[in-house]
Amino acid sequence: MKEREVKFFYKEYLNVDELPEADRILIEEAVVAASGAYAPYSHFMVGAAILLDDGTVVRGANVENAAFPSGSCAEKTALSFSVSNYPARRPVAIAISALSGDILTREPVPPCGNCRQMLVEEEQRHGEPIKVILAGSEKIIVTDSAESLMPLRFTKSNLH
Ligand code: THU
Repeated sequence: MKEREVKFFYKEYLNVDELPEADRILIEEAVVAASGAYAPYSHFMVGAAILLDDGTVVRGANVENAAFPSGSCAEKTALSFSVSNYPARRPVAIAISALSGDILTREPVPPCGNCRQMLVEEEQRHGEPIKVILAGSEKIIVTDSAESLMPLRFTKSNLH
């Protein structure tokens, strides 16, 4: 038996002004995206903004449905849009923010497991990491890749 350890480093900021300008702009885009969410059931409005390698920013919000499982997370909405409309472009960063009752959450909102799975596959498709920026009003968390958020993940190599 071997015991293995997975280490995970991330950066935590208490003030958005400490971040590089490009990250701050992407967070603002995520907040704009959140304001467009359709979340009449949870009232939890999530926004994701993806920066592509040519500078394009793609926004996505959560879209809920009376048949609850039919809804889509903000990250999935944004990623589906970027893959569909910019197939040749590579995402370099994603910012995620959420509004609860019109107010930015104090704590950062981490992507759900399903969205992590999708982000990791996009990283692997392009062979480059996607920076993940989780922005609350009192704390911002930044990781250098999506795969660091998902050790022991299922990938296409498991299909063989
Ligand atoms: N949600 C997201 O959009 N992204 C996440 O990573 C977590 C959850 C949405 C789904 C649902 O519409 C609402 O937040 C409450 O779970």
